[in-house]
Amino acid sequence: MSFTVTTPIYYVNGAPHLGHAYTTIAADVMARHHRQRGDDVFFLTGTDEHGEPVALAAEKLGVTPQALADENAERFKALAPQLGASNDFFIRTTDPEHKAGVQRLLQAVKDNGYVELGRYEGWYCPRCADFKTENEVEDGSKCPVHHIELTRESEENWFFKLSAFQARLEALYAEQPDFVLPPARRNEALAFIEGGLQDVSLSRGAKLQWGVQVPWDPAHVFYVWFDALLNYYTALEYAVPGEDLTQRFWPADFHIVGKDILKFHCVFWPALLMAAGLPVPRHILVHGYLLMDGEKMSKSLGNVLDPFAIIERFGVDSLRFYVLRDVAFGGDGSVSPAAFEQRYETELANDFGNLASRVSAMVVKYRDGAVPAGDALELREDFDGLAGEVAARIDRGELTQALEAIWARVRRLNRYVEEQAPWKLAKDPARREQLDVALATLVEGLRTVTVLLAAYLPATAARLLAALGAPDDSWAAAAFGAGAVTAVDRLAPLFPKHDAAPA
Ligand code: MSP
Repeated sequence: MSFTVTTPIYYVNGAPHLGHAYTTIAADVMARHHRQRGDDVFFLTGTDEHGEPVALAAEKLGVTPQALADENAERFKALAPQLGASNDFFIRTTDPEHKAGVQRLLQAVKDNGYVELGRYEGWYCPRCADFKTENEVEDGSKCPVHHIELTRESEENWFFKLSAFQARLEALYAEQPDFVLPPARRNEALAFIEGGLQDVSLSRGAKLQWGVQVPWDPAHVFYVWFDALLNYYTALEYAVPGEDLTQRFWPADFHIVGKDILKFHCVFWPALLMAAGLPVPRHILVHGYLLMDGEKMSKSLGNVLDPFAIIERFGVDSLRFYVLRDVAFGGDGSVSPAAFEQRYETELANDFGNLASRVSAMVVKYRDGAVPAGDALELREDFDGLAGEVAARIDRGELTQALEAIWARVRRLNRYVEEQAPWKLAKDPARREQLDVALATLVEGLRTVTVLLAAYLPATAARLLAALGAPDDSWAAAAFGAGAVTAVDRLAPLFPKHDAAPA
């Protein structure tokens, strides 16, 4: 089976922050999980380089938009490996192949009869690059995202006939009830559609030159959102030189996006694909905001928390874990250095790290590192169906719930240590067999949760599985009882303690 997952492409008007890292981490968990299942995976991320947000930022800095884009695209490109992201390609919308793809596809949309000339009159947010409808406006004339005064725009440009897709979009939502996930976001998107669709600007005229030229009207560039959305498709045409991956990887399985860009992905995007005669994606997965002091973190608001500081001090896996654990994926939630530290200490260092250290230390102490053989294992019923549940939850975009299902077993293993008290069993020669069973159960339980956690904590899982001499992290190996660890060494702490708060 093939599996395609994407992040939004990030605006290059500033530096990457935790909000961007969040979407990339979520997409990476899905990509890694599907590779574990043996799927043929394509994971795409990249940068959105045209349009007003970038042109305005460049103007402020006194550099050309291309120079600003080149500089910041590098920073986003470097962010992916720093996050442990296993993306298969990194697209830049200034790539000549992408630009040619945009021109070809939008020409097809026009040839199919879905483009016409019109005049736009209304509100516009240059930071969102979004034409706001009257009911999206805050306090009469402000942007609900940036809280800045919107500009009043009136210009002649090309329009995409979104209104022609009202019925087809409603049919799509009826036929594919999980097209948008989670369900609350689906309802939001459907309500927007049912509220009545208006045609939308497809190009910008004289006011903006930084974009992909409209092939049938060279004085215009395409409105940045249409250029940007098409990245998901054009990337497949040139990610591998000389090979067209569209047959293999289109339609995408999951586009993961933040709630601020729901309208573009859940409404414009499927309509645009229909207009171009292309299949629509299987799911749009919408997440909420990571909040600091109640506000969305964003470059323009300037209240960013630096993911790099956390990675440097605590390792990338702890950041991945924290953002998916502390905020239920799909909803909004506050993040803070204090909450990070709390999760790190109590869950990564204590629940999981200590479990691994204790189990390995006990096998070394009581059995000279040899794991008792035989399949007399306890806790089978606790692990029964777990891998299936985790996979099913990830398939519904429930990344936090899947992680909680695994963590419940981490806690179960810790309770089992206390219940069994191997240090007492070791003192009683008559209970030698029970000690064997307890140690074998703990080693197998530890191995199983580690395989299940591999998508979330890839570096830690690889290290631990290697130390257990059981590097197989395929989904078959995620079944309790599937492994055969024969020996363990004493392990160094997986998540060392830190004294001071993170920067
Ligand atoms: N360029 C557009 C996307 C085009 S996709 C065809 C864009 N870029 S962005 O850089 O502004 O945002 C990219 C993603 O980061 C969005 O999904 C957005 O929701 C996410 N986040 C930015 N700040 C965020 C938080 N504070 N919390 C969670 N995610 C947020 O939009």
